[in-house]
Amino acid sequence: MARQIQSLHWLSNGRAGWNIVTALDGNENFGLAEMPSAEERYARAAEFTEVVRLLWESYPADAIRADRVSGVYADTARVRSIAHVGRHLSVKGPLTLPCFGNARVPLIQAGASPAGRNFAASIADAVFASTPDKQAAMDLRLDLRRRAEGHGRQAGDILVMPGLSLYLADSRAEAKDLFAATHAHADRARAIASVRAMIGLDLADWPQDKRITIGDLPTMPQAPRSRTHSELLRRAILRDEPTVDELLRLPEVMASAHWQIVGTVDDALAEIRDWMADAAIDGFIAVPGGSVTSMRLVLERLVPSLADAGLFRKHYEASTFIGHLAER
Ligand SMILES: Cc1cc2nc3c(=O)[nH]c(=O)nc-3n(C[C@H](O)[C@H](O)[C@H](O)COP(=O)(O)O)c2cc1C
Repeated sequence: MARQIQSLHWLSNGRAGWNIVTALDGNENFGLAEMPSAEERYARAAEFTEVVRLLWESYPADAIRADRVSGVYADTARVRSIAHVGRHLSVKGPLTLPCFGNARVPLIQAGASPAGRNFAASIADAVFASTPDKQAAMDLRLDLRRRAEGHGRQAGDILVMPGLSLYLADSRAEAKDLFAATHAHADRARAIASVRAMIGLDLADWPQDKRITIGDLPTMPQAPRSRTHSELLRRAILRDEPTVDELLRLPEVMASAHWQIVGTVDDALAEIRDWMADAAIDGFIAVPGGSVTSMRLVLERLVPSLADAGLFRKHYEASTFIGHLAER
């Protein structure tokens, strides 16, 4: 892992990042019947991340001499074993690959259970978040900033960047049509199964127009696939009291609970500006959807509009990913 990411960092001239997830259904990759508990997963993640960081530091960039005359490639005294022996990993090191310059690989985290937030607050430069509404983003951002301070970091050391699905068109009506057409073939049975798995509520026999309220919510499943997504779905029910039909169309069910904008470029600009003004986000991860035109509107019209509004850079100052995060 340390080698792969550091190699990518070299190949991209310092533009690699690492999204550290404790994985959905990761157990299946390793022949385990179940996922370990959240506590266990995040304890492993913390040790794993620490070891990767130590490995990256074990062979610093300035250890390289590349001196043809004396025949010295690297100053071996600067390349050190890490001799890590921990609860989950024993790794001797050092890495056989030097670190890329002084621009470190940004660490991103995704997963917002209490254990996930604590882990993020201790190490992450940025969080890839699911925040379907502004209040969810504001709450998460405030909480992560506080937790970061609790770990001896500055509040501003951790950036909150939710996924943002963008279905853009020249008019609102066209954007709505685009969204509807994109999801016209969504599998209802699959959405119902997903709701059942997330919050234990079986809607199979419910009439489409029946409202779901707090009283209908069973207790949370003991070990949900993603606590983050289960909590967000419960939250949506408390927030909207949706009908079954409405619920099955919510981003909490259909789209990884991402923030969603269906409208014109100006609509998107106004909403992003509003979220920024209310300190709900530090940036976002654009997920353009629906059509190539929608993607073009994001890249060719929305991004320049954001730059004109002072919400995005006009030119790059830095050349690395960590530099870009700092200069946003
Ligand atoms: C925005 C976001 C993106 C995620 N991306 C991935 C991913 O790419 N791969 C993956 O296996 N899990 C992904 N996850 C799931 C998390 O790794 C994690 O397993 C899940 O959220 C459960 O952790 P939790 O208990 O902290 O919620 C993502 C979660 C979120 C919120």
